[in-house]
Amino acid sequence: MVSFKSALFVIACLTSISSASDDFEIFHESTFPNLACTALIGKMATFFTKGGSYCDVKLQQALGTYTHCLETIPDPNARKNFLISCAAYNLTEEQYLDSYNNATKYLLNTTADPTFNATKISYLPVLLPKKRVIGAWKSERGRYYNYNYAFYYGVTLFSYWYLILFMAGICNLAYFVCPNFIKQKLTGPAANKFRQLFTLPALGSKSHAHHTVAFKFFVYFVPTRLESVLVGIWIILAIVFNCISFTHDSPNIIWPQKPTEMGRKIADRSGQICLWLLPNLILFSGRNNVMQWISGWNYSRFILIHKWNARMATLMGILHAIGMTYNGKGLGKYEMRNKQPYVRWGYVSLIAMCLLSFHSMLVFRKSRYELFILIHIILAIFFIAGGWIHTSNDGFQQWYYAATAIWGFDRLVRLIRLFSFGVRTAEVQLIANETLRVKVPRPAHWKPFPGCHAFIHFLRPTCFWQSHPFTIVDSVVEDNTINFYIKVKGGITHGLYQYLSKQPNNKALIKVSIEGPYGQKISINKYENTVFIAGGNGIPGLYYEATDIAKTIGDKTRIKLYWVIRHYRSIEWFYPELLRLKNTNIEPIIYITQPHVGLVEPIFSHGNESEEEEEEEQQEKKSDTVEESTDYIGKLKNKLNFIEFREGKPDFYTIVGEEIKETNGPIAFASCAHGSMVDDTRKGVVDHINNTKYRVELFEQQQTW
Ligand SMILES: Cc1cc2nc3c(=O)[nH]c(=O)nc-3n(C[C@H](O)[C@H](O)[C@H](O)COP(=O)(O)OP(=O)(O)OC[C@H]3O[C@@H](n4cnc5c(N)ncnc54)[C@H](O)[C@@H]3O)c2cc1C
Ligand SMILES: *[C@@H]1O[C@H](CO)[C@@H](O)[C@H](O)[C@H]1NC(C)=O
Ligand SMILES: *[C@@H]1O[C@H](CO)[C@@H](O)[C@H](O)[C@H]1NC(C)=O
Ligand SMILES: *[C@@H]1O[C@H](CO)[C@@H](O)[C@H](O)[C@H]1NC(C)=O
Ligand SMILES: *[C@@H]1O[C@H](CO)[C@@H](O)[C@H](O)[C@H]1NC(C)=O
Ligand SMILES: *[C@@H]1O[C@H](CO)[C@@H](O)[C@H](O)[C@H]1NC(C)=O
Repeated sequence: MVSFKSALFVIACLTSISSASDDFEIFHESTFPNLACTALIGKMATFFTKGGSYCDVKLQQALGTYTHCLETIPDPNARKNFLISCAAYNLTEEQYLDSYNNATKYLLNTTADPTFNATKISYLPVLLPKKRVIGAWKSERGRYYNYNYAFYYGVTLFSYWYLILFMAGICNLAYFVCPNFIKQKLTGPAANKFRQLFTLPALGSKSHAHHTVAFKFFVYFVPTRLESVLVGIWIILAIVFNCISFTHDSPNIIWPQKPTEMGRKIADRSGQICLWLLPNLILFSGRNNVMQWISGWNYSRFILIHKWNARMATLMGILHAIGMTYNGKGLGKYEMRNKQPYVRWGYVSLIAMCLLSFHSMLVFRKSRYELFILIHIILAIFFIAGGWIHTSNDGFQQWYYAATAIWGFDRLVRLIRLFSFGVRTAEVQLIANETLRVKVPRPAHWKPFPGCHAFIHFLRPTCFWQSHPFTIVDSVVEDNTINFYIKVKGGITHGLYQYLSKQPNNKALIKVSIEGPYGQKISINKYENTVFIAGGNGIPGLYYEATDIAKTIGDKTRIKLYWVIRHYRSIEWFYPELLRLKNTNIEPIIYITQPHVGLVEPIFSHGNESEEEEEEEQQEKKSDTVEESTDYIGKLKNKLNFIEFREGKPDFYTIVGEEIKETNGPIAFASCAHGSMVDDTRKGVVDHINNTKYRVELFEQQQTW
């Protein structure tokens, strides 16, 4: 499947690159003298009507003026390049020099002749002031070198990520191919110091998976330090590239005043660099992104890059508009340009871009994800279409071809994935009033892997278009069956909750289609000691990974599985799976943070997102019928006597520290839980990495976007 998709992608890339390659234009020194002389002479005199040429020996006054212009320019190849450009006229160097020498005798000083009319055909060669010739030449160089800089800088910003991603791919591969090298060689004080400072921690002291709130409204995720550095360098490059290597050329033949000149140059630079950001902008936001397969990076990291790509593109778009406004006002072309459709579409694109950047803030995504996606797609279409129309006169479509091809490719693969799974009937059950278990038979060729997730479409009239990501567990009970364990939240999951709570046994058959599996395999099975830290509905992926290691490697590894839940009832929805841990070498430890809640009365479930809030609410309702509840707990513990139960809230910072201290071999942690628990785990690893001589690895399995 993957190789097929890669092949498809490569074809898509090759077609878009080949269609684009004719249009990529680097401007060379050889073209500037001709551009300069044609522009300058055109402004100073007229020698022929349409169809005439400076190459024509019969038009001595024109050729003579031109040769004088070229000979003034300090470019030793100016003559040669002109003769090449006149190949169709059979112009020889001898004729060129004759014309030059003859014209010297007739040159007309136009400033000294008040009757000279620049738009009337002149029959004498005209004298071109040296300063203006040089100025014209420098103006053309300045303009087109600016295009070249935009090209080089754009390519750099575009390629930067590929360089990083291929290096990440090599590192990722190393974890699988030569794990012993990593485990044995990449330990010790120097490696640890580097990892402590750079690759492991969150940007600040702790917060990463748990969102951060500033000014009550502004919610965001803090990237890890490594991510921040990589993105930071890119942002700095993007800013620098929009600020450096501008020249002011005077007297300027193209833009007479300095503000018009600089406005246009800044606009040209930012506009063209912006085009280079488009393909990655689309690629990194897609679910089927080859670079994800190559680098092993998770989707949420690509979304981080996507966001900063988008923000910089928006800033460049704004800069482009400001520059063009300066330029248009200065040249008196502002009103005229604003009437042109291509300029109006430019405004559409810019406004769409700004709206996209604004409404993508986490607050909007958190509260109304489906609305966010819908608006995002509509605005993105306006952004792309507007930009495409805006630039197509200038032959800049190739980036839009690429962006559209990438988008189309992603959608195509998504459809193929949906069709390859087909529509199947899922058994959906609401268990313990808090979790939906979705049991779906899968095609035999459709193979999940530990830690993967898939997007489910519940084919009900109210929500069939929505696709939500959930982690897959290949059923331990039935063949060719996958399970999802879905926590009831506020959107589609709440709709299902309401529907199921009215069904007998809280159970129903619902048609579903599934797009997947997505995700990257991790090399945690190469470690002698593994610790899985799961919270609530984060258990499925880690369970799948832990049991996979236990099954394939077995006795050689020590596997610890921590699971933090709120009440004993939560065990119900994962009970069959937990039973399967008996007689394996997995050591399960379950923490129950609110042991007294929900034992008699059903657990109060609602769409509240914030776990802390939920906890506070439920703390109040302690169970009265103590006897009944102890009975329930007793039975449960009896049946699951191979599991260690601990009541209370775990402190994973300390637990991780102890695990590291006690380990007698390389150790790996995998975490997927509530954000603050995941952050505690990360900090625990960073701070205690030096307490053992073995390699300590962290695989954060938690993804949010
Ligand atoms: C890789 C991955 C694996 C996941 N695995 C599980 C799992 O095994 N069990 C489980 O209970 N939950 C899992 N989740 C979380 C799950 O996707 C959301 O809880 C679910 O989509 C919420 O649906 P809702 O309509 O009820 O959301 P809402 O109540 O509307 O929103 C709740 C939260 O979910 C986010 N969300 C909503 N829709 C999406 C979407 N389509 N894509 C991404 N985020 C969304 C929102 O931003 C918000 O933060 C996983 C998420 C990801 C990214
Ligand atoms: C010399 O230049 C003049 C003016 O351009 C032109 O009229 C004349 O024909 C030229 N003489 C020759 C020999 O080309
Ligand atoms: C240039 O020369 C070729 C052959 O040498 C001839 O066919 C062509 O007509 C000439 N062109 C002009 C414009 O004189
Ligand atoms: C052309 O004429 C102007 C005005 O008379 C004079 O200032 C200038 O020096 C002349 N240029 C040359 C090259 O003689
Ligand atoms: C210059 O010539 C054009 C026609 O060739 C004429 O329309 C215009 O009025 C002339 N300008 C001046 C200032 O004589
Ligand atoms: C994505 O994976 C990387 C490891 O490749 C991890 O450091 C990061 O925390 C993950 N992102 C999220 C949001 O969990």
